[in-house]
Amino acid sequence: MTTTHREAGELTLETLLLSGAMAPIADPYPLYARLRREEPVKKVGWSGHPSVFVTRFDDVHAILRNHELFSSRSNAERGIALVMGRTLIGMDGHEHLKHRALITPAVAPRALRGEFPDVVKRIAHGIIDAFSGRGEADLVADFTFFYPLRVFTEILGLPPEDVETFHHWAIDLSHVAKDPARGFAASQKTKDYLAPLVERKRAHPGNDLIGELTTAEVDGERLTDEEVISFVRLLVIAGAETTYHLMGSALFAMLADPELLAAVRADRSLVAPVLEETLRWESPIQLITRETVEDASVAGVEIPRGHEVLVCLGSANRDERRFPDPDRFDARRRGEAHIAFGFGRHYCAGSRLAILEATLGLNALLDRLPDLHLDPAAEPARVIGVAFRGPDHLRVRFRSQ
Ligand code: HEM
Repeated sequence: MTTTHREAGELTLETLLLSGAMAPIADPYPLYARLRREEPVKKVGWSGHPSVFVTRFDDVHAILRNHELFSSRSNAERGIALVMGRTLIGMDGHEHLKHRALITPAVAPRALRGEFPDVVKRIAHGIIDAFSGRGEADLVADFTFFYPLRVFTEILGLPPEDVETFHHWAIDLSHVAKDPARGFAASQKTKDYLAPLVERKRAHPGNDLIGELTTAEVDGERLTDEEVISFVRLLVIAGAETTYHLMGSALFAMLADPELLAAVRADRSLVAPVLEETLRWESPIQLITRETVEDASVAGVEIPRGHEVLVCLGSANRDERRFPDPDRFDARRRGEAHIAFGFGRHYCAGSRLAILEATLGLNALLDRLPDLHLDPAAEPARVIGVAFRGPDHLRVRFRSQ
């Protein structure tokens, strides 16, 4: 299967960046392919900063590996950082390692075993209960949109009745580049909501993530309330927006190919390769950023110190030098690993959680929705976006239960 949707007129890098990473761009891949071929490290102005846009897999990999030359500090100063506060995606060196160690236990394989998968399954089935009798649904609006955040609020220890409000804030936070007023309002609301909760947890930590963060120490010092709140904001965006789109794009790929859907329904060991191929084919986060600490050179292009480096994971994962016939979704693809979770020190801290959640969620949908297929009367779904990428909707029909 190949992506067939095309923009009206040819998409340029300037348009992609000017329209903002949150714009509903449907098909950036021909642009990425042209850049990989002609200008793999392209100089460009972005948000008023001199920047380069990097599209080939090997260059992306080399940049992420070299965390001393390519700092993450731009993540602390621009875009989503403005509403999240100071978090580990914008930290370097020792400070980063120390803070990262704090959340690792909460999302480590050990924490994801035991009762956790059953809790997640219950959450998935609870959401499906609300629409399984209808015989039709929009799997984005009715399922993938809520499910990862619902799991996350469980990990955080938030009351279930607050989930929906919290999710709206998470979405507003991640839209700060497009609508700063909305982003800042949500940042304040999450702070107002979390501050008394953090205070209560300091007295009675319990065994949820917020409780653990309030008692954790970095270099002998506890995190401040502000730091705990920033951490939670990061996790909500990092954990909810991404897995939501991964599941949506995996369903999109399977629904577009009924033979694949039938094969996965019959043999659930295929869920894992479908998710891996989805991460490569429609990477939920297409673009991450770094900043040069010293003058650098990538693929023969000089990048002066202080330049922003736009690292295009979505393009690297379609690089024909690494993945033969890269635009084709092929769940039987073997060999080279994708880079959708990043690489190096900032490699996604929640990758195992994301895969576990997505696996349990897809299995629950396949168990509960027999004869699942796209609604032929609905507007065709499109996978859209750059900062976060996934289908706009997935209208389906099935045999109601
Ligand atoms: C399909 C789902 C996901 C994708 C594609 C994804 C992707 C990424 C990527 C590309 C990075 C690297 C950022 C950089 O290098 O600047 C990252 C970092 C991170 N992710 Fe994920 N992520 C996903 C799910 C999750 C989940 C469920 C969590 C929840 C715990 C999470 C938490 C984090 C955190 C805390 C970081 C920062 C790590 C650091 O800076 O050391 N992610 N993620």
